[in-house]
Amino acid sequence: MSKSFNKVTLLGGGVLGGQIAWHSAFRGKQVVVYDAFAEGLEKCKQAHQTYSGIYAKDLNASEEELKLTFERLSYSGDLKDAVHGADIIIECVPENPDIKIKLYDDLSPLLSPQVILATNSSSLLPSQFSEHVKYPENYCALHFANLVWALNIAEIMAHKGTSKETLVNITRFAIEIGMVPIPVQKERNGYVCNSLLIPIIHTALTLLNTGVTTPDVLDRTYMIMNRGTSMGPCGIMDIVGFKTVYDINQYWGEVNQDEQMLSNADYVKKNFIDKGILGLQTGQGFYSYPDPMYASPDFLEVPDVSKAKEIASLAVL
Ligand SMILES: NC(=O)c1ccc[n+]([C@@H]2O[C@H](COP(=O)([O-])OP(=O)(O)OC[C@H]3O[C@@H](n4cnc5c(N)ncnc54)[C@H](O)[C@@H]3O)[C@@H](O)[C@H]2O)c1
Repeated sequence: MSKSFNKVTLLGGGVLGGQIAWHSAFRGKQVVVYDAFAEGLEKCKQAHQTYSGIYAKDLNASEEELKLTFERLSYSGDLKDAVHGADIIIECVPENPDIKIKLYDDLSPLLSPQVILATNSSSLLPSQFSEHVKYPENYCALHFANLVWALNIAEIMAHKGTSKETLVNITRFAIEIGMVPIPVQKERNGYVCNSLLIPIIHTALTLLNTGVTTPDVLDRTYMIMNRGTSMGPCGIMDIVGFKTVYDINQYWGEVNQDEQMLSNADYVKKNFIDKGILGLQTGQGFYSYPDPMYASPDFLEVPDVSKAKEIASLAVL
């Protein structure tokens, strides 16, 4: 029998923890956000004000729904208080194994056998941490995408000791908060989503870095070949943020001794990060926000013939 989870605790109120907390509360869950730093909690509260505006605009959320969402949210700097009475705890602390292990060690004595614990880690595997959690059968990964309200997938990935009951319950929770569950049948860094996305981003960066094409031409090509999609790889990188794009390329470039990845990391650093351009969060990435060029109605149209000279100049060797 699957069980409905109504009390949710988020560990870490940063970008993803803040989004999952807000979205779960919007979908009717009682949510506590725990963060080890007062600044983290403060930023999370500010982000929730921002999400309130986005949900009103993009999801047509009513004033009453937003009011109830705020009422269902609370914030705590005390781990014991934050997890007291929780049905499900979702860990969203930084992508650093030492930080996660220390937190799991502190958390374990506070857990009861009924509580489900999930990690939102993007690239670390649940089996790396299962021996640090008190009830490994209740532990797995539940991985959300940045902008949870729009990119509503939740990837579910077990380690060998995760129970079937846990997987059913966590899948049910994902559905209850409006996510499309994506079951992953083997542990894999990057799950399904990032395993698809990272090679696309890598190729896009290589095409830009080696001067083969420009961001708008690249995205236009992708969007015509994938008719109906709302953005291309450069638009996606703006959402992911250039710091993360840099980190992924630098880390895997070093691990795999991949010269092209390291060069792509350098390209992102020099052209964007060093200039304070970080993507959507700073209003400027490959595109300017809130009205990026790729969202304009004529982005995929056949151009006027008067543009031929300008377009051809991009094909001169
Ligand atoms: N940012 C993304 O696009 C994204 C997408 C999917 C998954 N994730 C994953 O989610 C997790 C969090 O990423 P993020 O981008 O939200 O990070 P973030 O840096 O925005 O937030 C991390 C938060 O954790 C807090 N924190 C640090 N140490 C802590 C501790 N010991 N206990 C409690 N709180 C602590 C920080 O104060 C901060 O508020 C990572 O595992 C990451 O891989 C991130």
